[in-house]
Order: sequence, then structure tokens, then C-alpha cells
Amino acid sequence: MTRRMRIEEQAAGRKGKERGELSSNTSSSKRSRHPPRKIRPIQRLYEVCKEVFASGGPGIVPPDADVERIKAVLDGMTGTNVGLNPDMPVFSKTLNQRAIITYLQVYECDKFSIVLFCLPPTAVIPLHNHPGMTVFSKLLFGSMRIKSYDWEVDVSSEVQPSSGARLAKVKVDSDFTAPCNTSILYPADGGNLHCFTALTSCAVLDVLGPPYSNPDGRDCTYYYDFPFSKFPADGVAVPEEGKEQYAWLKEREMKAADLPVVTNQYIGPKPKIKTANK
Ligand SMILES: [Fe+2]
Repeated sequence: MTRRMRIEEQAAGRKGKERGELSSNTSSSKRSRHPPRKIRPIQRLYEVCKEVFASGGPGIVPPDADVERIKAVLDGMTGTNVGLNPDMPVFSKTLNQRAIITYLQVYECDKFSIVLFCLPPTAVIPLHNHPGMTVFSKLLFGSMRIKSYDWEVDVSSEVQPSSGARLAKVKVDSDFTAPCNTSILYPADGGNLHCFTALTSCAVLDVLGPPYSNPDGRDCTYYYDFPFSKFPADGVAVPEEGKEQYAWLKEREMKAADLPVVTNQYIGPKPKIKTANK
């Protein structure tokens, strides 16, 4: 069973506020005198993503300027913009003393998706990949550790270690505390494989372009990571200095018990969806 979050209360409060703002303008008889209506951040994010990913697809990285456009919107976003705050029950939810992650989908089309992860303290999203995808991750509030890797393509294409594991190199291994800038990963670099560990209650807003899609071969694969010394190198050479930056990644079967996640309905501010004719 899942528990709905108390976003309605916030949404109701916000609507009331908006009504108040509008009522102060109704004294003006001329519509043109009204100040321009402010676009909600979630609306702006949706519209920028719609433009940027319009011609996107697997393995296609948007131009730098377009990446910056999405990043600029996300950098300014907080939990309030998606109706979340750390006092909500989802941020303290546990089952058998294990922290339960709550997943909320804000929007998805075949080009991109906008999703939220609500993590109680100690919750872990295990190491996983993002095949052919560009992913923006914005920590809306709280603190979390991000560890990410990229495949070490220079060696793995020529050598197949007997362990069946594949060599990767650490890209990021740091603690992040909001407010902080958006993290971005790409199909082949930027830390395409990552793991999130919540140090406090925290919320993460992800934009994925394109989204995961099992029928299209873009399923999410999970991995164990092992130190380089764990397995025989089998001819793989890495620099002696900085050896700790390398790790063997081995696919893992993810059972429901290993990843306590519940999916809830997103009831925060929703973007107004634009159809092709509009
Ligand atoms: Fe991810």
C-alpha cells in the first residue's frame, strides 16, 4: 500500500494565493494593464524540454546551448515548485527499518520524461545505467552522496576479463547539499552509471532524454561495483597512481526486496501539455 502525499494542501494554498493576486487585478477594467502571468517553473521546464528533445533520440546529445537551457531552469527549482517538502510522510517512510523510495512521474512522452524521487535518510538508489540517454539530476532539497562511473572504453573493447565484469572509472564521488547546481550525465560520459545515497531526507528531480524504454532496448540495468584488485586484471593495465579510481562493474539481478520503491501519483503543480497542433 502506498500513502498519498500531502501535496493537495500545498496546491490548495497556492491556488488561494493566486486567486488573491488575480482579485487585486480585477479592479482594472483594461485587460492590457494586467501584469504578464508568471510561468511556473515546472511549465517552463516542460516547454524547454519539449523544444530541446524534439529532434532527440537514443545516443543524441543536445547541443551545449540547449543543455544549458534545461540546466538553467532546473538550477533555480526547489521542492516547492513540485509540491514537495521534507516534512511529508514519504520522506520518513520505512518498512522493516529500510527506507522506502517514492517515485513520482511528472510527465513522459517518447522523447523525454520528468520524474521525481523522494528519499528518506539512508535510502539508496543502487548503481544503474542510462543507455543512450542524457540525464539532468537536480537535488531539490536535502543532502545526498552521488557516486558515478563511466565505462573505461579504451581497454574493455579489447579485453574480456574472466570475471565477466567490465572496467569503469569513477567520475564523481561526492556529497551534495541543496541548493546546488544540476548534475548532467551523457550517453558515454559525465558518469552515465550512478548511485544515490540519501544522507538526509532529500528529493531529486530527473529529466531523461530519451526515457527508459524496454521495447526499444533501453531497460535499466543495475550493477555491483568491486575494487580493481578484486578480480584478476587479465591483461588490463591501469595507471598505478590512481588505481583506486577504477572499479569492476558486474550486472546484478534486482529483486523487489533489494530496491524498496513505491510509485505514487504526482499531484504537485502539473505542466499544461501542448499538443502538436498548438
Ligand atoms: Fe539514474
